[in-house]
Amino acid sequence: MLVLGIETSCDETAAAVVRNGREIISSVLTSQIETHQRFGGIVPEIASREHLDKIVPIVNEAFERASIGARDVDGIAVTVGPGLVGSLLVGVSYAKAMAFALSKPIVGVNHIEGHIYSVAFENPPIEYPAVALIVSGGHTNVFFIPEPGKYKVVARTRDDAAGEAFDKVARMMGLGYPGGPIIERLARDGNPKAVRFAIPKMGDGLPDFSFSGLKTAVTKYVRESGLQPLERDTEPSQDIKDLAASFQRVVVQSLVGTTKRIAEEYYPKTLIVAGGVACNGKLREACREIATQLDVPVYFPSQHLSTDNAAMIAAAGTAKLLVGEQNIGLEEEAAKRAGARYKL
Ligand code: KG4
Ligand code: ZN
Repeated sequence: MLVLGIETSCDETAAAVVRNGREIISSVLTSQIETHQRFGGIVPEIASREHLDKIVPIVNEAFERASIGARDVDGIAVTVGPGLVGSLLVGVSYAKAMAFALSKPIVGVNHIEGHIYSVAFENPPIEYPAVALIVSGGHTNVFFIPEPGKYKVVARTRDDAAGEAFDKVARMMGLGYPGGPIIERLARDGNPKAVRFAIPKMGDGLPDFSFSGLKTAVTKYVRESGLQPLERDTEPSQDIKDLAASFQRVVVQSLVGTTKRIAEEYYPKTLIVAGGVACNGKLREACREIATQLDVPVYFPSQHLSTDNAAMIAAAGTAKLLVGEQNIGLEEEAAKRAGARYKL
């Protein structure tokens, strides 16, 4: 089964062709990082306009690299949310139009579910029940997955996502965007115990995450210690490296501590760690440690599949198409019944 995946939920325009939900035939993406960098974050209006410019060439390139034509796919999977509404609309409208023109089945995929399926390509098949830690710029969740397609949110962030915290702290330190990879690089030469930040805990005892207090603690530290944010084209000071390492340490401890606590309660057969922040080497290391302690295999996507891509959307969509799930395009049916030729 060949499925075309389309992803435009944030600042990447991506398309991929995936066979049987496990083999990437082609995966193409273009990132808008450079466009948004000077604003220190994503500007939604600019993002949707760029998706509009890029969607046609990106999908065409995915077909070209797979050496197939649009008619050769068995179905189309597209991210329907969560994400920036204007950006999602570009991918969804394009996918719907293509499905209609080619008479192909189409299925909408939740972006976070996509991240869960990003481990499908380079690991053994997932054994259920599974526990998944999904950490990205927009989401921080731990899911219990009793069987494919069924998800129970066991922990979520009450405020900022972990990636968002990396991005905001980086911005505060004058490091640029996206913050995660920059903080990780600087942290390599820093002392993670230089600044003691408390691991955020919920007053009600639930295993949820919170990162906004940590961000405030970093702001307070910067103000009180007189640490100078990095000036353009200058070398980062040891203080900045130490702060980066200390911040990263507490984020990793919070994510991994909670995931371990949940895994001890749910007895998963597989641990999944995915999303942009799963690129982080210290997080991976700590997850491997808890997996060994729990005696469960832990699956990560490789780096290029950790951040947003369309292959993971195609893989998640394949599982849905195989069971005949139809969650998008129903208005076409309604329009047909009402005598309209087509309505987007
Ligand atoms: O999954 P993703 O590409 O987009 C969303 O769905 O949000 O994740 C992007 C996030 C950004 O916040 C970025 O700073 C973070 O992932 N990130 C990292 C690393 N690489 C990317 N965070 C920590 N360490 C990294 N190495
Ligand atoms: Zn994502």
